[in-house]
Formats: sequence, C-alpha cells, structure tokens
Amino acid sequence: MAKKQGATAAKKAVAPKGKWIPKAPRGMRDVLFEEALVREKIQNIAFEQARYYLYDRIETPILEDTELFLRSVGDTTDIIEKQMYNLKTEGGTQLTMRPEGTAGVVRSFIEQGMQNLPQPVKLFYYGPMFRHENPQRGRLRQLSQFGVEVLGDISSSYDAEVILIFFNILKQLKIKDLVVEINSIGDKSCRSIWRTKLRDYYRNKLPKVCKDCRNRFQRNPFRLLDCKEKECVEYRAGAPTMLDNLCHDCNSHFKGVLEFLDELEIPYALSPYLVRGLDYYTRTVFEIFSNPAFFEKQAKEQKKEEEVKKGEGGGTEGQEVASSTPLALAGGGRYDDLVKMLGGKDTPAMGGAIGIDRVADLVGKSMNLSEEHNVRVFLVQLGMIAKRKLMKLREVFRKEKISVAESFGRDSIKAQLKIADRLQADFVLILGQREALDDTIILRDMKTGSQEIIPLPKIFDEIKKRLKK
Ligand code: HAM
Repeated sequence: MAKKQGATAAKKAVAPKGKWIPKAPRGMRDVLFEEALVREKIQNIAFEQARYYLYDRIETPILEDTELFLRSVGDTTDIIEKQMYNLKTEGGTQLTMRPEGTAGVVRSFIEQGMQNLPQPVKLFYYGPMFRHENPQRGRLRQLSQFGVEVLGDISSSYDAEVILIFFNILKQLKIKDLVVEINSIGDKSCRSIWRTKLRDYYRNKLPKVCKDCRNRFQRNPFRLLDCKEKECVEYRAGAPTMLDNLCHDCNSHFKGVLEFLDELEIPYALSPYLVRGLDYYTRTVFEIFSNPAFFEKQAKEQKKEEEVKKGEGGGTEGQEVASSTPLALAGGGRYDDLVKMLGGKDTPAMGGAIGIDRVADLVGKSMNLSEEHNVRVFLVQLGMIAKRKLMKLREVFRKEKISVAESFGRDSIKAQLKIADRLQADFVLILGQREALDDTIILRDMKTGSQEIIPLPKIFDEIKKRLKK
C-alpha cells in the first residue's frame, strides 16, 4: 500500500516553478552540535532516574488511530479541537501523529496484555510528539518528551514518585527555583458536584467569556478554568474550586500525596484552578515550573509573618496559592479511568512528561560540555600505510574510551597540526612514511612542545601512563 500511495502522491505533487529554498516546516527544527549534546545529557539523566526507580522502556508508534486520541485526550480540549496532525491512508484509515505519549502507552498496556503482569507496570518513553500550535518560544509543533507511567496501583506514593523523578532530573540539571503546582480534580463521583457548581457560577458570565468557553460551558465546564484568554482568566478567580468539593477518599488521597512531598522536601504550591489540557485526569494533577517569583513571594510572606509575630505589621494572606506562571517544564497526573475507558480492565494509573525542548533551552547555556569535547590524542599521518596503521591504532584507544581525533582526509602535516591545536588535544601522534616503515611513531606533548620517537607497539601504554600523571 505504501508503494502505491507513494506513487500517487508523487504524481499529484507538482514541484513549484521558480526558486525553491528547502526549509524545515514551521514550528519544527533541526537539533545540531552543542544543542544535540545538551539533549543527550538530559536524556541520559532522565533514563538513569527512570531505571533507578525500576521503570522499563517502552516505544510506541508515532502514528496511532485518531480514535485513540479522541477517546482519551477528550474532544473538547485544545489538542483535539485545534492541534492534531491527522492523515488518511489510501485504505481510508484515519491516523494521527501522536500529540502526547500516554494514550499510546495505555493502548499498548491493553493490547499487549500487561494487565496480566505483576502490578504496577512502570514504563518510561522518550520521543517526538506533534501539536499544531501557534509556534513561539517554548511552543513547538514537533516537541520531544520524556515520560513515565505507572499502571495498576492507586497508592498516593506513586503520585509522589512520578513528581520526585521529574524533580530529581530538573535538580540534577541544576535548574533553580523549582516549584510543583499541584491540585486534585477529584473522581467521577465528586466531580459531578463541582461541575454543577461551576455551571451555576459561569451561567450569568457567559456573555463575557470567550467564544470557545461559551461552547465548552455545556460540554465540559472544567475547560473554562484552563482557558488562557484574558477575560476568562479574570473570571476564573472567583470560580468554585475542586479542593473545596473533594469526597472523603479523594481528599485523603490528595493529603497523602502532599505528605509524601513534604517528607521529600519538594516545594509545592496548591493551584486550585489547575485542570490541565487533557481530559483523562482524575485526582492529582501537577505541573513543574522554574519560578523565582514564587520564592520571592514566599520570602516576602515569611518576612511579613515575622513582623506580625513581632506585633509590627498587618494580617497574613492565608493559604499559599500559586503565583503567575512561566511555561511548565513538566506536567502530569493520575488517570484512574483511562484504561477502562479504552476497553481494558479497571486499572488506576499515574504519570507525567517533561518537555525536553523547554528544559534544554533553560539549561543549554549553562551546561558544561567541555568534557564531551575533550580530545586527548590527535593522529597525524602521511601516506596510505600510515593511515591504515593509525586507523587500527585508533581502535585500541576506543576500547579504552580514550578520545581520539584525526583528519585522514588531509595530507599536509601542517594543516593536521593546526586542527590538533584547535581541538586542544593533549598529545599528537605523528606517523610519517619513515616511521611507518620503522614501526615507530612520533609522540608530541602539546603542553610542553617536547617530541620523542616511540616504538609503535608501545605507544598505547605510553599514552595511558602519561594521561594518568
Ligand atoms: P503536557 O503537559 O501536555 O502533558 O506536556 C508535558 C510537557 O511537554 C509540558 O509540561 C511542556 O514542558 C512540554 N510541551 C507541551 N507542549 C509543548 C510544545 N508545544 N512545545 C514544547 N514543549 C511542549 C502530556 O503530554 C501528558 N501526556 C503527560 C502525562 C503523562 N500525564 C500523565 N502521563
């Protein structure tokens, strides 16, 4: 089918006349050089964390049935209403480029019979997601996520574990002022009371909220809390919160999560209007920010409290509520109904994902990559025999993880030495035609400038000895 479709597509696609400059699609980009290294480091740290907490890696397809996202993400969300990359195959199958990772993981959990494994099943993934957003800083159309999902356990310890993993990764990357904004949106039963209260609150405000929110009022009033339009954000301030309407079980679950976070000394702020942009959540929802304003506010309030204690100031402001927020670095929550909604057994679950692009943007400039660029040995050659011998010698260094650079495409010794200089190699090994015949090599110490001839079979031990000094 792919061949037939490709041929048809090629026939239909007519190359435009005139000058054409190849460009990546809007909102998508190439990752190169230092940035690629930064992302590799983030990925390594993330994988290390996931492995430590015994998560297994899962890779799911980038394309899934459109139906999967309609049924999980929710048809009144921005993702479904505006941001899906949909395509139809020649056979008429409707597919979507995944906008997020959870739906695919749950599909796989059901399809692969993971319900029959010892629970919980803990999985992690890394890869590109696609959202047709309005591209701007921190909002790409192709974004990368690292995510973790715990399926098959309702304990609040897993809500805390997921948050802890992201917190650890961001901390290890030396991101400052981390704060977890957290809320509980209850479960099916207690949420219906909240839904009624929300409708009562918004009913007479409908002419004043945005057009999208007017549409969402009947279908999904929770989405009104998630709207970023100025007028809607203003009206949100007085809306009833779920935290005031949680049933006993949801309340004690949420209390449990907060107690774990307290014990782990993870700073959090209750964010009573956080509902998140996906419909599958139940109970805990969270987002992580690097937010210096939060800590400034906290310090000010602490000072105020101290003044009150001393009898010098006014009253305190009561419960801490999250301050105005920059872009979230990570987000997630519990989704206890999703597995069942998609046709599996009743299976509670919790997860989250980090936005790699946003994190890389934040840490990129400050990350020390000098280690990665550290060339210890540079190989200089003259002639084919020398090239062959050095190619073999490089393998000996590789096995010992000693970084070696070369420029086998260049023939001039001067040009090669110039590169060795630029790369700040510690040692240069020069193999000319004469040395190639004598089975020797010239060793130049780049720090001292001293040079000596060493038998070729001994050069590896000699370099190792000198690197240890
Ligand atoms: P999400 O909040 O939509 O959650 O995305 C997670 C993270 O991906 C965000 O916090 C942000 O850092 C990054 N991100 C989202 N959209 C963009 C974008 N357009 N450009 C750049 N970065 C972006 C999810 O996707 C859920 N699947 C997380 C989850 C897993 N919940 C439970 N399990």
